[in-house]
Amino acid sequence: MSEPVPLQRNETRNSRRRFVEWLLGGGLLASLASFFYPVLRYLIPPERADLGSDTVVAAKVGELKPNSGKIFRFGNRPGLLILTAEGEYRALSATCTHLDCTVQYRSDLHQVWCACHNGFYDLNGRNIAGPPPRPLDSYRVQVRGEEIIVTRHREV
Ligand code: FES
Repeated sequence: MSEPVPLQRNETRNSRRRFVEWLLGGGLLASLASFFYPVLRYLIPPERADLGSDTVVAAKVGELKPNSGKIFRFGNRPGLLILTAEGEYRALSATCTHLDCTVQYRSDLHQVWCACHNGFYDLNGRNIAGPPPRPLDSYRVQVRGEEIIVTRHREV
C-alpha cells in the first residue's frame, strides 16, 4: 500500500507540469509560426510597388526637389533617380562600374559621384572622371499619375 503524497508536494508537481506544458505549447506555436510565416509572405506579397524585374515605382511625384536624387531599389540592385534643376527626371544604375560601390547625386556639382575612389559621371551616366571604366546603365522614366516609373531598356 502506498503512502498518500503530501498536498504541498503535489501542488509543486502540478505547477512544474503546467510550466513544461506551457513551454512545449509555446515551442510548438513558434515552430508553426516559423513555418507558416514565409508561406504567407509568399502567397501575400508586400505592397511594394515592384511591377516586375524590369519596372519599378521609384518615387511619388513631388517626393524629390529639383536638383536632388534618390536611391531606390531596382530588383536586387540600387538605382538612382535624379530630378534635375530643370525639372527633368533621369534614372541610372547606382552601382559604380569601377568596383560596385553605390553612387550618389551631388547637387553642388550636378553630377553623379562615387565616394569610394572619387569617380564622376554626368547626368546621362557617362563616366567623366576618376577610375570608372564604363558609363552607368540608364533607365527610362515615365510619370504615371502620382508615380514615377522606371523601366530597364530592353536589349534588341
Ligand atoms: S568603386 Fe566607384 S570609383 Fe571605385
